Amino acid sequence: MFGEGTSTYAEFAVLSAWARMPGGLTFEEAAGYPSVMETALRVIREVGVRPGQTLLVSGASGGVGSAVLQIARDRGITVIGTAGVANQDYLRSLGALATTYGEGWAERVRRLGRVDAALDLAGSSVLRELVDLTGDPHRVVSIADPATAEFGVRFSGTAGSMPEALAETTGLLARGGLRIPVEKSYPLAEAAAAHIESQAGHTRGRRVLIV
Ligand SMILES: NC(=O)c1ccc[n+]([C@@H]2O[C@H](COP(=O)([O-])OP(=O)(O)OC[C@H]3O[C@@H](n4cnc5c(N)ncnc54)[C@H](OP(=O)(O)O)[C@@H]3O)[C@@H](O)[C@H]2O)c1
Repeated sequence: MFGEGTSTYAEFAVLSAWARMPGGLTFEEAAGYPSVMETALRVIREVGVRPGQTLLVSGASGGVGSAVLQIARDRGITVIGTAGVANQDYLRSLGALATTYGEGWAERVRRLGRVDAALDLAGSSVLRELVDLTGDPHRVVSIADPATAEFGVRFSGTAGSMPEALAETTGLLARGGLRIPVEKSYPLAEAAAAHIESQAGHTRGRRVLIV
C-alpha cells in the first residue's frame, strides 16, 4: 500500500488514505508521490488551465513541479518551467520549455511564448511578474508566497482529494507518463538533516525518510 497519514515519522502509523502500491516501484519511490501529486492536481485545477493552453511554472524542478509538468504533459497543456541552470535538461526531459530564474527571467519567458496561467511553487517574490505575464491575477496561484493577497492572487493551502491523487498516480505510472526521482533518502535518525536540506529549496524531485 502507499498513501498518506499523520504522525508517519514512526515505526507504525495509520494511513487516512491508501491504494495498492503500483508495480515496479520501491517503497522509497512510492512514498514520494502522494503529497506532491495531491498538490499538483489541486493547483492545476485551481488555476483553471485547459488543454491547448500554456502554463508557466516558477520553480518547476522540485517535487510539486515535477508532478505538475507530467500531469500537464498528459493533458496536452504546454508548460514553460523555470529552474536553476543544473535543472534545465531535467525540465526538458519532462516535456517542458525551460528557462532559468534570476535577472531577466520574465523577458526570457516572454520569448518562449504567450502565458495563459501561472503557478508560483518557489515563493521567490515573482507574483507581480506572474500577474503581468498572464494579464490577470485570477490566472495565478501560489503555494509558497505569503504576499498573495497584495497582488489579488489565490494562495492554495487546503488539501484536496488524496484518493483522487493516488488514482491519478497509479494511472499515469501505468501509462509510463510519470516519474518523480528521489534525490536522497535518509534514515529516521537523520530527519533533521532531511528538513534542513529540503528547506534550501533546491531538491530535484523528493527527499524521503526511511523508517
Ligand atoms: N501550500 C501547499 O499546499 C504546499 C504543498 C506542498 C509544498 N508547498 C511548498 O511549496 C514549495 C515547493 O515545494 P517543492 O517540494 O515542490 O520544491 P522545492 O524543493 O521547494 O523546489 C523549489 C523549486 O524552486 C526552484 N527555485 C529555487 N530558488 C528559486 C528562485 N530564487 N526562483 C525561482 N525558483 C527557485 C528550484 O530550482 P533549482 O533547484 O533548480 O534551483 C526548484 O525547482 C515549498 O516551499 C513547500 O513548502 C506548499
